[in-house]
Amino acid sequence: MIVALAASLVLAGLPTAAMRLTLVLALASAVVLLTLTHGAPVSLYGLTQGVGPSGFGYNSTAEDVTAGMNLAGRTYLVTGCGSGLGTETLRVLRLRGARVLASARSLASAQAAIAATQGPGEAIPVACELAEPASVRAAVAEVKRLGFPLDGIIANAGIMALPKRQLKHGVEEQLFTNHVGHFLLVTGLLGQLTPAGRVTMLSSAAHKGTYPEGVRLDDWAAERGYTAWGAYGQSKLCNLLFARHLGRVVLQGAQTANAVHPGVIATNLGRHMPNFATTLMSAVGPALVLKTIPQGAATQLYVATHDETASARGLYFSDNNITRPSRFGEDDALAAAVWKRTEELVATL
Ligand SMILES: NC(=O)c1ccc[n+]([C@@H]2O[C@H](COP(=O)([O-])OP(=O)(O)OC[C@H]3O[C@@H](n4cnc5c(N)ncnc54)[C@H](OP(=O)(O)O)[C@@H]3O)[C@@H](O)[C@H]2O)c1
Repeated sequence: MIVALAASLVLAGLPTAAMRLTLVLALASAVVLLTLTHGAPVSLYGLTQGVGPSGFGYNSTAEDVTAGMNLAGRTYLVTGCGSGLGTETLRVLRLRGARVLASARSLASAQAAIAATQGPGEAIPVACELAEPASVRAAVAEVKRLGFPLDGIIANAGIMALPKRQLKHGVEEQLFTNHVGHFLLVTGLLGQLTPAGRVTMLSSAAHKGTYPEGVRLDDWAAERGYTAWGAYGQSKLCNLLFARHLGRVVLQGAQTANAVHPGVIATNLGRHMPNFATTLMSAVGPALVLKTIPQGAATQLYVATHDETASARGLYFSDNNITRPSRFGEDDALAAAVWKRTEELVATL
């Protein structure tokens, strides 16, 4: 991310359009060259990355980490299927034969995502607007009505870096959408999990950019010193702590919960960032440092489906390997406090 931003600044600083074009063309050529020599798109940074103890790494794709799997007979609920990593997760789960309950804000959006992917796995649309408790509760009821035991829930939907403080039901919108909405959804469906069912939460390395206090338990309306990245970081820290508490304290037997950082990928997630930043990032980012969408969706699929992660509990993964989160991300007392605060909040909604 830092390298891409630095390159963006360099690009913006070049005096003529011709020079900027030359640099972009040079970077694009480098990507084409690397892609031809590696068989799949890879960034300059990716070229320096190997694999970790899992045998997978930064450059592994969603298809790589599920290669040879037959997921026929398994059912996964995936949120945010209409875009980016969610659509790729839906596609690859179906490719491996799984049934996917494909959730998006509206039924039409879920249906469009399903139409953009192919079987053999069946896909069933589910409407779930995470920022509206009534919609989330209706989605819980619909999943229960469908009746399929869930082998996994992949809580993938999210929003990032809203420039101005916005509220949903009295809670800052990123915190509500990313954390509170998923808390309602996942806790509402715990009874639907199979005995070895797995919950996979999309966190982010951006959890490290949360407010200095970690989680502002006394200020979920963000009345004090709102910042776009502080609020996003806090919401992603809550995703991580939710998985930690769920995996280590709440779930029993072989059921698990874990959190992942997918990497940095050019998706619609950047829609609230300034136009110049997203334009420059899309121009130079993929060549330098960004993951592709198939690489970005790999870690959540590795954690949700691979035999090697079946007994992982309350851990944090990045580049398809266990990694350490921030000190707040390892704070069990904070995880319990966030759980309690959220439980009390949703009881009022
Ligand atoms: N891309 C990255 O670099 C990156 C890095 C770290 C973590 N992540 C995490 O990865 C996850 C997937 O992100 P992405 O990159 O694939 O972004 P994306 O392309 O923007 O996809 C996010 C999805 O979430 C859905 N969504 C947003 N608000 C929602 C709401 N209120 N109710 C229901 N669905 C909602 C969006 O639906 P609409 O299209 O209808 O709005 C979209 O389908 C997110 O949790 C993100 O925080 C991404």
